[in-house]
Amino acid sequence: MRFANVFAAVVIGTALVASVMIINSFRPSVQTLQPTPAFIRATGKCAECHLRTQYSVVHEFELSVHAKQGVNCLDCHSAQSGQTSEDHYGFTINPHVTAANCRSCHEKEYRQYLRSRHAVPAWVAVAGKDGFTSEQIAFSERFQPGGADRPANALAQIEGDSAIESGCASCHSIGKPNEDGTIGTCTSCHTRHTSSVEVARLPSTCGQCHMGPDHSQLEIYTESKHGVMFEAQRGQLKLGTAPDSLTTTDMFVPTCATCHMSGINGGAVTHNPSERLGDYLFAEITTERPNAALARARMQDVCLNCHTQTLVDRVYEQGAAVVAATNEKINAVKTVMDSLRAAGLLAGESYSNPIEFDYFDLWHYYGRTAKHGAFMGGADFVQWHGNYPILEHSVRIEREAEQLRGEHGSTDH
Ligand code: HEC
Ligand code: HEC
Ligand code: HEC
Ligand code: HEC
Ligand code: HEC
Ligand code: HEC
Ligand code: HEC
Ligand code: HEC
Repeated sequence: MRFANVFAAVVIGTALVASVMIINSFRPSVQTLQPTPAFIRATGKCAECHLRTQYSVVHEFELSVHAKQGVNCLDCHSAQSGQTSEDHYGFTINPHVTAANCRSCHEKEYRQYLRSRHAVPAWVAVAGKDGFTSEQIAFSERFQPGGADRPANALAQIEGDSAIESGCASCHSIGKPNEDGTIGTCTSCHTRHTSSVEVARLPSTCGQCHMGPDHSQLEIYTESKHGVMFEAQRGQLKLGTAPDSLTTTDMFVPTCATCHMSGINGGAVTHNPSERLGDYLFAEITTERPNAALARARMQDVCLNCHTQTLVDRVYEQGAAVVAATNEKINAVKTVMDSLRAAGLLAGESYSNPIEFDYFDLWHYYGRTAKHGAFMGGADFVQWHGNYPILEHSVRIEREAEQLRGEHGSTDH
């Protein structure tokens, strides 16, 4: 009896030690290694100066999962291939950290991001294909047909360099090519030194770019039931939970990230938000995306963590109806515009006739807003920022077209 107990204890003890060793051997190496003298020297020395001069930078880093896991300043600030380094108070550092530096430890997330519209298409939209290799364009085209192999948007060229740099590019640089051959930065959502999922899950993080009349996602979210509940219950949500163990008990109210990127209740995280989108809602005339059915099913799988199929079907049916009606309204006005162009009545460069702005606003502001509002719970955006100005602009453009035809008729004589 006694011997049996001791024997059992020894067996269990040995098994425990062995399993701890086995589990340990599967953890990332930085997690298990004792801090080396080089590590202590690196972070300690960097921090010694930088705590005094840029307290916030070092403090943000200290709050990060990276700091807890032993990732140090030089892990990001040393040069990867294609990057240049400089002498820096006894160290060699690379001050310009890009996706190349994150990629060295997070290849999977980088590969997913490369397939997204946040990568090549975002930058090409503003600045064209310069700076990308033909392989990068071809790779992106496989996942985002028509998004990479195209010229820059006409408006950017007209407004000039300073508008592009401080305006368009501030948002669209999420996909800017880097000199080291990689694309983009990972810090627009994770910030430079917190590298956190908590920040990335905040609506305001996405809303830095996803706001304003042409893509009012933040405003729509804020007025939606989800946004209201987030505001009310934010303190009860566990926004920092590690992605692989995130459940609806941590996040029982969704943010942008939950629907578009997270893997909740065992689902997979994606850095390509297109994977869950069925339509090109941002387009002048909305069409279905390739694999629309699969994409809608993926998004609905997210909703179904919290809702019944009946509720989800209702939202999608109403969304589809708004898309169809908006297409019809925009198409009717588009026909007018096309006929003016065919008759030579819109002479000159693009955007040199007031009617072109009215038409651009019609689909680019109000058409989009109505469609986005319908899918994301923004009633006011479907109506007063959507359908009402669609009607008003349709009437106005019709009148302006008559006027142009009249002027043309009189100059003909
Ligand atoms: C002896 C003090 C000192 C030490 C040690 C030090 N720095 Fe600095 N660092 C500075 C100062 C001062 C600046 C301001 C720019 C300059 O004078 O180079 C700076 C600037 C920087 C910049 C911005 C450079 C730029 O061009 O924008 C980075 C990034 C940086 N340091 C990272 C580090 C890292 C990483 C370490 C540790 C490997 C480190 N520093 C160690 C003093 C120091
Ligand atoms: C997870 C990667 C990462 C780690 C770890 C990291 N940095 Fe940085 N750091 C960045 C990025 C990204 C930038 C922005 C680079 C750019 O603008 O090109 C940056 C910029 C800086 C700057 C310039 C900041 C400014 O606002 O002018 C300083 C200084 C700096 N880092 C110091 C440090 C120090 C000191 C440590 C360690 C305590 C550290 N960094 C750790 C990614 C990192
Ligand atoms: C030297 C390797 C290394 C580098 C370089 C690195 N990371 Fe990490 N990162 C890690 C490790 C290790 C973890 C912790 C993983 C874990 O706990 O499973 C981590 C975790 C993360 C997380 C999850 C944090 C959380 O709150 O759960 C994010 C986000 C992240 N890194 C982003 C970045 C970004 C962005 C960069 C570049 C600016 C970067 N990392 C550079 C090793 C690295
Ligand atoms: C730095 C600016 C920026 C931030 C921050 C940002 N985005 Fe975007 N996002 C863009 C731009 C620019 C596009 C349009 C790219 C294109 O189609 O040219 C875009 C497109 C998208 C799309 C549409 C993709 C498609 O296939 O049409 C989704 C969905 C999206 N972002 C979700 C998010 C979410 C969720 C967050 C926060 C976790 C976020 N974004 C943060 C700039 C940003
Ligand atoms: C406040 C941030 C922001 C600014 C500034 C901005 N954009 Fe965007 N842009 C976005 C976001 C976010 C989207 C995604 C819209 C969506 O999918 O609903 C987008 C979408 C687009 C699209 C449609 C998607 C595509 O790839 O065809 C084009 C074109 C575009 N932007 C061009 C521009 C140009 C040109 C400028 C400057 C004149 C500009 N943007 C300024 C954030 C911005
Ligand atoms: C559009 C915003 C956005 C951009 C850009 C972005 N991330 Fe993320 N990332 C997120 C969000 C949101 C999560 C958390 C997903 C969730 O809720 O579980 C995340 C999670 C992560 C994680 C933790 C993943 C896990 O499964 O533990 C890592 C690591 C990471 N990102 C690295 C990167 C790297 C590297 C890049 C650049 C190639 C990058 N991120 C760019 C939004 C972004
Ligand atoms: C409750 C889930 C949910 C939340 C929360 C949510 N979205 Fe969406 N979003 C959707 C759905 C559903 C669609 C339409 C899907 C489709 O086209 O099939 C959509 C569409 C979009 C698009 C349109 C892409 C295009 O084709 O023009 C963008 C961009 C976007 N969301 C960004 C955001 C941002 C940013 C936030 C937070 C401020 C957010 N979403 C919050 C579910 C959500
Ligand atoms: C993480 C959980 C979660 C996810 C994911 C989620 N929701 Fe919700 N949703 C909520 C909560 C919580 C409420 C408020 C519930 C209540 O009052 O009973 C809500 C409310 C709603 C409402 C308003 C219901 C009403 O009549 O007041 C609609 C519509 C809705 N969600 C649609 C969706 C759609 C569509 C999706 C997927 C694209 C989605 N939700 C994803 C948690 C979620």
